[in-house]
Amino acid sequence: MARILVVDDDRSIRRSLEKFLGGLGYEVETAADGDAALAAPAAEVVLLDLGLPGRSGFDVLTALAQTAQPPHVIVVTARDDMQSTVRAIQLGAYEYLVKPVDIDRLRLVVARALETRLARTALDARVAGEAESYQVGNILGHAPAIREIWKQIGAVSTTRAPVLIIGESGTGKELVARAIHTASADRDRPFVAVNCTALAPGVLESELFGHVKGAFTGAERDRAGRFELAAQGTLFLDEIGEIPLELQAKLLRVLQERTFERVGDARPRTLDARVVAATHRDLPALVAQGRFREDLYYRLRVVELALPPLRDRPSDIPVLIEGLLAKINRDLHKAIRGVTPAALAMLCRYPWPGNVRELENLLTRAVVLAKGDVLDEDLLPITAAPAPPTSGIRTLEPDALISLRDLERRHIARVLAHTEWNKRRACAILEISRPTLDRKIEEYALVREGAAAS
Ligand SMILES: Nc1ncnc2c1ncn2[C@@H]1O[C@H](COP(=O)(O)OP(=O)(O)OP(=O)(O)O)[C@@H](O)[C@H]1O
Ligand SMILES: [Mg+2]
Repeated sequence: MARILVVDDDRSIRRSLEKFLGGLGYEVETAADGDAALAAPAAEVVLLDLGLPGRSGFDVLTALAQTAQPPHVIVVTARDDMQSTVRAIQLGAYEYLVKPVDIDRLRLVVARALETRLARTALDARVAGEAESYQVGNILGHAPAIREIWKQIGAVSTTRAPVLIIGESGTGKELVARAIHTASADRDRPFVAVNCTALAPGVLESELFGHVKGAFTGAERDRAGRFELAAQGTLFLDEIGEIPLELQAKLLRVLQERTFERVGDARPRTLDARVVAATHRDLPALVAQGRFREDLYYRLRVVELALPPLRDRPSDIPVLIEGLLAKINRDLHKAIRGVTPAALAMLCRYPWPGNVRELENLLTRAVVLAKGDVLDEDLLPITAAPAPPTSGIRTLEPDALISLRDLERRHIARVLAHTEWNKRRACAILEISRPTLDRKIEEYALVREGAAAS
């Protein structure tokens, strides 16, 4: 019988998981802290909370990965942020689930973890050792697609395989490329970006590979190209869809043979850099039209990361506004607190063809022009999208398109406000038990209006 270890400092969570998993026929052990977890008999699957007293969940994860027969660790945590997700995956976590966990999802993940005997990616010791000391540039959002991106960044940052990042303009492709670099063990090495659109074909070639004196008119001295400058760091090929066919052939050869020559020079040089490419183009369509080499496409997309357009994750708009305003305030030495509810509703309705970049530009302009400390509609000149066609089905207002989790959080907050934080009455209205309410208040970090934040 498969053995599962549940590690959580919350007794009610330990109990309910034990009951649930026991009911599925697994043999379940529990532990309330890291030391107890490591002392427990070896299990095939470990459900691990991150916020443990004493030894942290990350420590436990590291220690478990070093055991003779490392278990599959499913992190089950209230920490819904990019840093924790990236780090847990880098340390070898099999899955990362955010509380409150959907029970059906958990059942599937546990079953899958037991079935797969994945070959473990050898964890770079440097990543493990230094993980505490760095911060990954923050990719804001909580939509499932963004959480997947966090996990993928964690996974690819421990390898040097080529990565292809696709997504519409302004969805954060460069941000993700930098995050992969920063999360990797080579973060102190160069990150060199080349925009393949910005340069004429001949110039692009010498930009990439360098040239020697006299290679062409105007080449007055030897010059290293971006491949050389990137050394053992990351070479970011932005707008890869724009590179001319002739150069595609050369690039393919470089990636295959991992050597290249400066223009006008026969001496081969080794390619050491990790290659990350990005494009807003539909590469398979370009391949079909004969405008992009199929072999190069497959060489670049060993791992593909697809960034969602902003209109597909309207629930992220509030967090993006908050995060972007914080950044803009810092850059412009301003202290804008937020947007009015009417402005927020309008921003949530807009389809954002220019994605996060468009939102950032709009907010920047508004911050510059703002007189007070809140942005209203007049400062945010967009025309809200026309209402979507209704085909007999009643559709929701876009600002009501939020996740179930968000809906639950908002509803609990509303009920607590209504009962003036009389929890007994709130429990009665919500038809939940007091421990459940307390857990949710903690999980969602709900605080009473006017009470001092702790
Ligand atoms: N999820 C996000 N969280 C925070 N900032 C973001 C996010 N996505 C994008 N941005 C910001 O939006 C701007 C555009 O992002 P970026 O340049 O990475 O987009 P891109 O996909 O490379 O766009 P393009 O195809 O136009 O080059 C940047 O200022 C970036 O910091
Ligand atoms: Mg870009």
